[in-house]
Amino acid sequence: MVPFCLRTNWIRPIRVVLTLFSLPRTAYTPGVWSAVSCSFSHPFKTSHTIRPISSSFFYHQMASICMMPSSAVPHVKSRCPQYPGSNVKRFPVPDANVDWSQKWPQYSPVSYTAPSVTNKPAWADPDIGSFHPRFNCVDGNVDRTSFEGSYNVEMGKPLNPRGRTGLTGRGLLGRWGPNHAADPIVTRWKVDAKGAKVHHPVSKRPVLQFVSIKRKDCGEWAIPGGMVDPGEQISLTLQREFSEEALNSLAVLPSERAEIQERINKLFKSPGFQVYKGYVDDPRNTDNAWMETVAVNFHDESGNSVSELPLQAGDDAGQVQWVDLDSSLALYANHSHFLELVAKERKAHW
Ligand code: BGC
Repeated sequence: MVPFCLRTNWIRPIRVVLTLFSLPRTAYTPGVWSAVSCSFSHPFKTSHTIRPISSSFFYHQMASICMMPSSAVPHVKSRCPQYPGSNVKRFPVPDANVDWSQKWPQYSPVSYTAPSVTNKPAWADPDIGSFHPRFNCVDGNVDRTSFEGSYNVEMGKPLNPRGRTGLTGRGLLGRWGPNHAADPIVTRWKVDAKGAKVHHPVSKRPVLQFVSIKRKDCGEWAIPGGMVDPGEQISLTLQREFSEEALNSLAVLPSERAEIQERINKLFKSPGFQVYKGYVDDPRNTDNAWMETVAVNFHDESGNSVSELPLQAGDDAGQVQWVDLDSSLALYANHSHFLELVAKERKAHW
């Protein structure tokens, strides 16, 4: 792990570069966050910026800034003993052996790719052998670049940049290498009957609420995110997933559609606060396929934009509701970590 003093040395030059290019402000740089709180409950680095989210130039800048030794943050959920949706048990990987640089001849991971993936759905790659994807680049319509920087490819298969998971193949994930998702965090202030902000009795800070869905696949509460379709702009994925999962836009009556669409467009056009961008410690991860996401906060400050729309679960969501932000939240993957960052940024209760 890079000592804190070394990391801080490059934070200032990064800020200067961002300023020179007139890029939006960065509240936390990845290095700072990792250095001050490398713990299992927050095993992620963070790019923390208020900016419009469509600048690909900015993504590329941040992708290279975000490079960190994988050994600094051992993933945990990616080593869960039983692979989700199956009876498959991962080969146990102790913390000390997660990093690929650690020689471990006894490592004997289980190979597993779920039938839902081998059945060749449109969203999944074929098996390696008959198929030769171009890794570490945009391959046709499929973005195979990683926010973690360049990843290694061994015997034609990409290696998880955060290390061993005890399982090879793709499990439930469709793509070899990075599988890109986007997470819209839609928030509003909690108010009382008179419309005044509610403050938490202990922290004395105002309470934020976010739109949360109960995932159909695992029953856990989560941000209504989803996978980036091939060739799709992340800004569109954020808006589409929110509309489909939290407002059930796919089933809405045509008469209501225009009104809903207008409010959503307005909120998602506002400059989102990019909360996180990078690897996700997801239980579906394998040695050869893993989740990455961009989480962006869209805030309805006045409470009269999307806050007034009736929530209705759709697509991959079983239920949907506004939930108070609080440190006791136990959510899917690293979603509670994203919310903690939102609460800090907006000076809300956590
Ligand atoms: C979910 C996202 C999540 C990502 C990584 C996707 O399937 O829709 O909400 O952040 O996986 O766990």
